[in-house]
Amino acid sequence: MGRLIIVSNRVQPTNPDDGGGSQGGLSVALSAALRETGGIWFGWSGNVTEHFTGGIHFEKSGDITTAIVDLEAKDVEEYYSGYANCTIWPLFHYRLDLAHYDRAFANGYERVNQRLAETLIPLVEQDDLVWVNDYHLMPLGDHIRKLGRRNRLGFFLHIPWPPMRLLLSLPSHRQLVELLLAYDVVGFQADDWLQSFLDYLRVQFGLEMDEDGRVAWNGRTVQLVVCPVGLDAEEFKAISLSRAAQTVHKSMVKSAAGRTMIIGVDRLDHSKGVQERFQAYERLLSTHPELHEQIYLLQISPPSRDELGQYQEIRSGLEALSGHINGAYASPRWVPIRYVNQAYDRATLAGIYRAARVGLVTPLRDGMNIVAKEYVAAQDSDDPGVLILSRFAGAAAQLTEALLVNPYSSEEVSEAIAQALAMPRPERQRRWQQLNDIVTSQDAGWWCKIFVSFLIGSPR
Ligand code: G6P
Repeated sequence: MGRLIIVSNRVQPTNPDDGGGSQGGLSVALSAALRETGGIWFGWSGNVTEHFTGGIHFEKSGDITTAIVDLEAKDVEEYYSGYANCTIWPLFHYRLDLAHYDRAFANGYERVNQRLAETLIPLVEQDDLVWVNDYHLMPLGDHIRKLGRRNRLGFFLHIPWPPMRLLLSLPSHRQLVELLLAYDVVGFQADDWLQSFLDYLRVQFGLEMDEDGRVAWNGRTVQLVVCPVGLDAEEFKAISLSRAAQTVHKSMVKSAAGRTMIIGVDRLDHSKGVQERFQAYERLLSTHPELHEQIYLLQISPPSRDELGQYQEIRSGLEALSGHINGAYASPRWVPIRYVNQAYDRATLAGIYRAARVGLVTPLRDGMNIVAKEYVAAQDSDDPGVLILSRFAGAAAQLTEALLVNPYSSEEVSEAIAQALAMPRPERQRRWQQLNDIVTSQDAGWWCKIFVSFLIGSPR
């Protein structure tokens, strides 16, 4: 096999020796994937330049070479902030009400994908496998093909694929799906998302998937796979046993002063359901007065995509709601919600997860959700906490021993919190064991192996 070339919008290798940094699931999984095989990781530097030159900045660390390019401000505005985050992101998370359709965004998306493909091509050798990740880069494979390359090309979508009826609202929906069919392998996080993609292919293109998961298209076959992204569980467990994590754990236990902590950790994003979570927590406080002063919710929500108005609104909405709940229920000795807008490194998070009796992961829609897996991996096997997980996160298909809830229902979520708080230790241990088995066996390396084996096996 040739080298593995991974492409993603952001290139953020994690270093297990520095406490794991504060990166999200995608960069952690891609780092783990590349640590297994070595190779090149190509994408945007996150920086802006006055004129796009295609100049690549290389860095080598062990077997991994990162190759990053700067983009123009207009590119960032139309491709990243515009099409990726104001069109695709809300639409693919079922939020048609928040999606903006603007031809300038669509053109910028195409332009940047073409620029990135042209910049990448000189790095690609004949037998290399090219694995493109995520919604920012759906057209990249087609551009690579048009530039004459015949390498095996894979695409993995880290976010949900929307139901056909929603996708039809996107002006260029057909073209977008055709772009994906330029790849040899297309991967999804969960069967639900694959089924939505198949519905579209069936109804709009008259295509069916065969029993091996292949679809015939323009004289080629496209392999469709479900392979849920995993955590680098071994690394995360090591981080959670590190001195730094233990110090945080101790200080959290001390600061809880005998109260039980419930933890939520989510980027500030409308898909994460934090507002609905706060409402469910308020309901718990109003229906269970005996829990007052006994529990608290620590919600950690680092700002993200701050340049977008929608994201600023989420922030102010949550500030108002947490203020309202604290104002209504706090006492001189107790604050029911500790709400923090800051990012922490993974060692700190691991220490916090371990100190929390309940992990509250209730996105309204989520491709996977790695926080759920981190919460499980950080627990003490002897006295583990309880994971409450949204049915609408991709992770729910794997983590079936979590308390699965409908995040839109305050009643269901508040009852699940009460159940988790009262859960006897043997039941906590039994549930955690199943969750931990999945998190450790279906980890980031497993995910990478499955995807790459499909890519290698795809016909030439
Ligand atoms: C979330 C998604 C990833 C995506 C990332 C981009 O973590 O699950 O699929 O790549 O956001 O975040 P950014 O900060 O780069 O917009």
